[in-house]
Amino acid sequence: MTALYAVFGNPIAHSRSPRIHALFAAQTGADLRYEARLAPPDGLEAALAAFRAEGGVGANITVPFKFEAWRLCARRSAAAQLAQAVNTIGWDESGLWGDNTDGVGLVRDLARLLQTDPHRPLQHQRLLLLGAGGAASGVLGPLLAAGARSIALWNRSLDKAQTLAARHSALAAQHGADLQVVHTPPPHWADGVVNATAASLGGETLELADGVLHPNAWAYDMMYAAADTPFVAQAKAAGAQAWDGLGMLVEQAAQSYTLWHGESPDTAPVLATLRAELAAGKS
Ligand code: ATR
Repeated sequence: MTALYAVFGNPIAHSRSPRIHALFAAQTGADLRYEARLAPPDGLEAALAAFRAEGGVGANITVPFKFEAWRLCARRSAAAQLAQAVNTIGWDESGLWGDNTDGVGLVRDLARLLQTDPHRPLQHQRLLLLGAGGAASGVLGPLLAAGARSIALWNRSLDKAQTLAARHSALAAQHGADLQVVHTPPPHWADGVVNATAASLGGETLELADGVLHPNAWAYDMMYAAADTPFVAQAKAAGAQAWDGLGMLVEQAAQSYTLWHGESPDTAPVLATLRAELAAGKS
């Protein structure tokens, strides 16, 4: 019988997850259907209940429901617990379980781009993480676990950065990493700068002092687009090597796929297909 999966969000029409999971399924020969489902702003719980009654066996959760999904889960992975956000769910004998694959997705994409050891891809690196919302909270733990020497966390609203850092202080200590909140992003300091703010989404450019992005740094925007995002353009203009987040999208989907099916799809051809389709303007 064809297994039913979906991604829930609002808005959801332009989600690329159905395409990615269809490509994974074609690759592994899995018999599944994966749909994009719009849930009303206060209706995730009811939408999930209806989906399960229909035979749904697993789902991804995207903006704005990742915190709500975390709340609904009876069992959560360590990553989800630290992020307080869930992007992958399923059902088992104890009810709804949730995980967060965003951070794994980012770290795997960075390992590929930086061509570093996949087990400790960020070893010895000094990172500047911009933002403290849902996107940042999903990746901070995995960035620490990936071996970063030091992470400076900056957010427009300082209190949110402080809350996020406090929640991760034990993990930082466990990995021997220095985690600090900064009032202003430090110039000529970071080896890598990760943009987890929603600024690019609104077409806005972050106001960063000269030297925050610099020629010896790499820069990664968790957003993606057919053309350079404002942050990628800003980083390139400062001489940094810069990438958008399409690879992270594919990698987090692959990790969800592995959680559901126990099989790891080959992400490289899927990313190449997505990139080509994005450039050609296909949604
Ligand atoms: P997401 O799930 O995409 O992270 P979110 O939880 O609403 O969405 O968080 C958005 C993040 O982008 C926040 O860190 C926000 O900063 P504030 O906490 O100060 O609101 C940040 N952000 C959005 N627009 C921004 C802008 N123009 N400049 C700087 N930061 C911005």
